[in-house]
Amino acid sequence: MNKGFMVVFDGSNGAGKTTVIKSIEKYLTLKGLDVLLTREPGGTPIGEKIREVILEPSTPEMSFMTELMLFGAGRAQHIQEKIIPALAQGKIVISDRFDAATFSFQHFARGIDLETITKINDLALDGFSPNMNIILDLDPSEGLKRVHSRGEGLDRLEDEKSEFLVKARNGYLKQAEQSPHKFEVIDASQSKEAVLEDVIKVIDSLLSSFHASSHDNHA
Ligand SMILES: Nc1ncnc2c1ncn2[C@@H]1O[C@H](COP(=O)(O)OP(=O)(O)O)[C@@H](O)[C@H]1O
Ligand SMILES: [Mg+2]
Repeated sequence: MNKGFMVVFDGSNGAGKTTVIKSIEKYLTLKGLDVLLTREPGGTPIGEKIREVILEPSTPEMSFMTELMLFGAGRAQHIQEKIIPALAQGKIVISDRFDAATFSFQHFARGIDLETITKINDLALDGFSPNMNIILDLDPSEGLKRVHSRGEGLDRLEDEKSEFLVKARNGYLKQAEQSPHKFEVIDASQSKEAVLEDVIKVIDSLLSSFHASSHDNHA
């Protein structure tokens, strides 16, 4: 059976995730592939309600542990309700953020210990793991400039001080160093066209390895 695979786009706010995801959706759809776009926090009706609670700017008092567990709760629902069924149907699942963001923001930036994060995340994942994380790497202050020019207000996490956002960015780079087979880092300071070109190289190589392995399964 031709099983699907899952690619996550992650990185600082304003790095260009939404922009590149739209182009990649078009790219894959034109190839005749079945694409499911999703996001975290969110992705399901329950997850979107949790997203509102997590990102609500009027409640800065949320404890770090509450935040971590809300992300975990949303992820558990996301995987069971949406991701696993889509992959079973052979879809390519593209998520705007996933568990790498939890390590970046809750561990590297907030400072919750790695063991606690891993424990909650493992409970949420229940053995699942996305096939690839594409990190759009950008100085978060550049990302914020882009977000401002998008004309939107900041959510509770975007509204953190710049030191926090720099730690989160470095957290993505550290994860990529530690798990090179699960991460690709792309220089998001380039033009939209150049970023897309780099992303397409990664996607093409994933497509050929997945086609090769599904071919092997038939052999
Ligand atoms: N490579 C790029 N160079 C310059 N501006 C960009 C680039 N990619 C995206 N943008 C612009 O920056 C803003 C934020 O991009 P977006 O895709 O919404 O980022 P994210 O989803 O990562 O927060 C948008 O206005 C978008 O048009
Ligand atoms: Mg976005």
